[in-house]
Amino acid sequence: MDIVTGQLRLRGKLALVTGAAQGIGEATVRRLASEGARVVCVDLDDKVVAMAQAVGGETLAIVGDVTDVTVLRAAVQETERRWGRIDILVNNAGIDGAPALLADGEDRDFDRVIDVNLRACWLAMKLVLPGMVAGGGGAIVNVASVAALIGFETLSIYSASKAALVGMTRTAALEYGRHNIRVNALCPGGVLTPLALSFMDEGTTQAWADKHALKRFAEPEEIAAAVAFLASNDASFITGAAIPVDGGMTAH
Ligand code: NAI
Repeated sequence: MDIVTGQLRLRGKLALVTGAAQGIGEATVRRLASEGARVVCVDLDDKVVAMAQAVGGETLAIVGDVTDVTVLRAAVQETERRWGRIDILVNNAGIDGAPALLADGEDRDFDRVIDVNLRACWLAMKLVLPGMVAGGGGAIVNVASVAALIGFETLSIYSASKAALVGMTRTAALEYGRHNIRVNALCPGGVLTPLALSFMDEGTTQAWADKHALKRFAEPEEIAAAVAFLASNDASFITGAAIPVDGGMTAH
């Protein structure tokens, strides 16, 4: 809600969110919808359908893998056919891969993590940018990670994918700013979602929490609030930024 005008900040906006079935993606869908946006939700997991129904309003679910260009193309075309345009893209789908020291990493893990965390974001941006240019503007939020900014033992491939996503974000911002398209990356710290739980061993949860100045993990809703801000006109002069939303993890 815009406190000054009392208007819903994203009223009339059309958003596409990937990795929408759970965690940060689900919280983002709920937040964007609560601010007035119509949201297209893409996820591998078919529970995205029930999630979109539960959110209600004009929320559409598409089940598919974002690394498959035909899935992304169909999502963009279906959205543009139904609602005319995409104003907001949130590239959120991401995986961490199997934790391993660099020398022990598997080729297939490298390929899959880069495919999901980087190549799929590139594909989605390629597909939505022409419509945003034609429509006179847009906002793209790429969900990166603090792992783009600092190192994490056993997460070299993940870190590389997220650092590359930040690099791509900055360049896209330079290329499309003249079209009133803002492109930003968000760098969350630890967020208690299934993904975060997958790289914490039993008993290390508190140690991970202690890496943050706030000595706790984020709730997915705290990341979704930052996504909604970057997607809205409240962030009208922010582009090409990689913004830590990390409870002070990178303040060291
Ligand atoms: P999550 O594992 O809880 O949810 C990710 C969602 O993406 C799932 O619904 C999954 O089905 C979907 N997904 C994965 N691969 C997909 C594919 N190829 N095609 C379509 N959907 C796919 O993860 P979480 O924690 O919500 O993470 C969301 C994003 O935030 C990811 O990009 C992650 O790297 C990033 N992030 C998460 C942090 C955390 O501590 N949870 C910290 C920093 C960044």
